[in-house]
Amino acid sequence: MDNIIFLGIESSCDDTAAAIVRGDGHILSSVVSSQTALHAEFGGVVPEIAARAHAERLDIAVEQALAEAGIGLRDLSGVAVTAGPGLIGGVMAGVMAAKGIAAGAGLPLVGVNHLAGHALTPRLTDGVDYPYLMLLVSGGHCQFLLVDSPEDFTRLGGTIDDAPGEAFDKLAKLLALPQPGGPSVEAEAQQGDPDRFSLPRPLLDRPGFDMSFSGLKTAALRLRDQLIAEQGGLRETDRRDLCAAFQLAVAEVLAEKSRRALAANPVPVLAVAGGVAANRTIRAALERVAHDADAKFLAPPLRLCTDNGAMIAWAGIERFRLGHHDGMDLAARPRWPL
Ligand code: KG4
Ligand code: ZN
Repeated sequence: MDNIIFLGIESSCDDTAAAIVRGDGHILSSVVSSQTALHAEFGGVVPEIAARAHAERLDIAVEQALAEAGIGLRDLSGVAVTAGPGLIGGVMAGVMAAKGIAAGAGLPLVGVNHLAGHALTPRLTDGVDYPYLMLLVSGGHCQFLLVDSPEDFTRLGGTIDDAPGEAFDKLAKLLALPQPGGPSVEAEAQQGDPDRFSLPRPLLDRPGFDMSFSGLKTAALRLRDQLIAEQGGLRETDRRDLCAAFQLAVAEVLAEKSRRALAANPVPVLAVAGGVAANRTIRAALERVAHDADAKFLAPPLRLCTDNGAMIAWAGIERFRLGHHDGMDLAARPRWPL
């Protein structure tokens, strides 16, 4: 089973991705074609544009992934594809491409939940054993998952409104910083004073693992408008200090909820995935939490934290090893809780 080879296809948001992964966790190739430029002028991902771009680019991404891995379709053991959740047009484009390849080459087809792909990444990168705790923090997702097997995820809690990445993006928009907002807010925050403004720490006063980030954005908006009213505009230092306060608030909320999640579920590993895991202040805060709980902190390399085909190929391999695969009736699902 270590030398089985899977093609993984991902097209649930704005990245068209294909990768070739071996059963021992070796990534032979990973192609990601980003659509960021296509959606830039609209200030967000436009589903119809995304679906068309996936349909145009998927075959090329698969061809490139095979070429970079130096293999052909005949060398594959199976095809894994994101079957949801996500923007349905894009998911359908991926599922149809995967069905075509599987039927044409006579290969098993394995449908994968996109969130399972993220959640199983620490097994691909570090060979982590079950069970472990996963904090998934991206532009679209925010949840704690207790991972017990390739198909056994317990959602402990998550955001009740915005995902943290979404909140970073909205703050950047408020402050006229470039998108995606996470990296630009982090860069500003680096030179800012996190203690000048005090922002709320939503839901920390309540038990449990749920989080909320939309109130932080509203509080930042109020501070911005107050500064503009008082000074006639925003100074560079205002922007920096607001970003620093915001980043610290997000980091402290994520850290405190992680501390509680680890205390209630004392597993040996706390892992993170998703674009927000790139933030150094957030990473450092989570690392301290893991250290204090005698757990190991794992953050996969960024290219495997954000959307990619390798995590889908790997999740497909794990399902396939359990003897599971799908038929031509595999459906694309816009919503699919783990
Ligand atoms: O996982 P991802 O690439 O895409 C999905 O949302 O599926 O995550 C993108 C999100 C964006 O909202 C972006 O602003 C955020 O991750 N992000 C960051 C940082 N880098 C990316 N947020 C905070 N700090 C960063 N350094
Ligand atoms: Zn994702």
